[in-house]
Amino acid sequence: MAADLFETIGDARPPRETIADGAVLLRGFVRPFEAELIPALRVVVKQAPFRHLITPGGHRMSVAMTNCGSVGWVSDPSGYRYDPIDPDSGQPWPEMPEVLRRLAADAADEAGFSGFAPQACLINRYIPGAKLSLHQDKDELDYGAPIVSISLGLPAVFLFGGLKRGDTPRRYRLEHGDVAVWGGPSRLFYHGVAPLAEGEHSLLGRQRINLTFRKVR
Ligand code: SIN
Ligand code: FE2
Repeated sequence: MAADLFETIGDARPPRETIADGAVLLRGFVRPFEAELIPALRVVVKQAPFRHLITPGGHRMSVAMTNCGSVGWVSDPSGYRYDPIDPDSGQPWPEMPEVLRRLAADAADEAGFSGFAPQACLINRYIPGAKLSLHQDKDELDYGAPIVSISLGLPAVFLFGGLKRGDTPRRYRLEHGDVAVWGGPSRLFYHGVAPLAEGEHSLLGRQRINLTFRKVR
């Protein structure tokens, strides 16, 4: 029987998908937080606007970034670091809104990592064409805590490899509201984002926003 075009077909993707030992995708996990989350983010990025950081190799990143929390991740020609001060404003980063803390802790808990209390939330902004090359998140002192990564806006292809740079990454579509959590045996797995496809999101327009929460120390 042909499906009725107007019937709710629903999300065929599983709500929870284990992609490696210690790594899980939680589809739509953000939905109950969304109404509070988006306005809270707007306040943060007004106080600490997005900027394109320069890598230690001298390249301007295609992804624009900012942070909230007691420290923020920054890159400049001298290297990568966590800094309590936003170098653009000379002021501390905006505080991490309570709704973000709750969302990150709940997602970590759901993925099997209880008591997650991140100090840093890196906020990435991708416009079509922007990408993030394969890398490890290893500027933190504490690898015991997972990385919690929230996707908003346009869909992206998330690349998730292994412990070695040469491990061929698998590709996962991340949509608005999806969460990826990786920790334990996959905490140092290489990951990245393929060039963002053109599009227009009903709520956020022509961009993808990604939040990654890290316990730094
Ligand atoms: C990151 O690795 O920092 C971001 C990943 C993503 O944008 O999904
Ligand atoms: Fe990362």
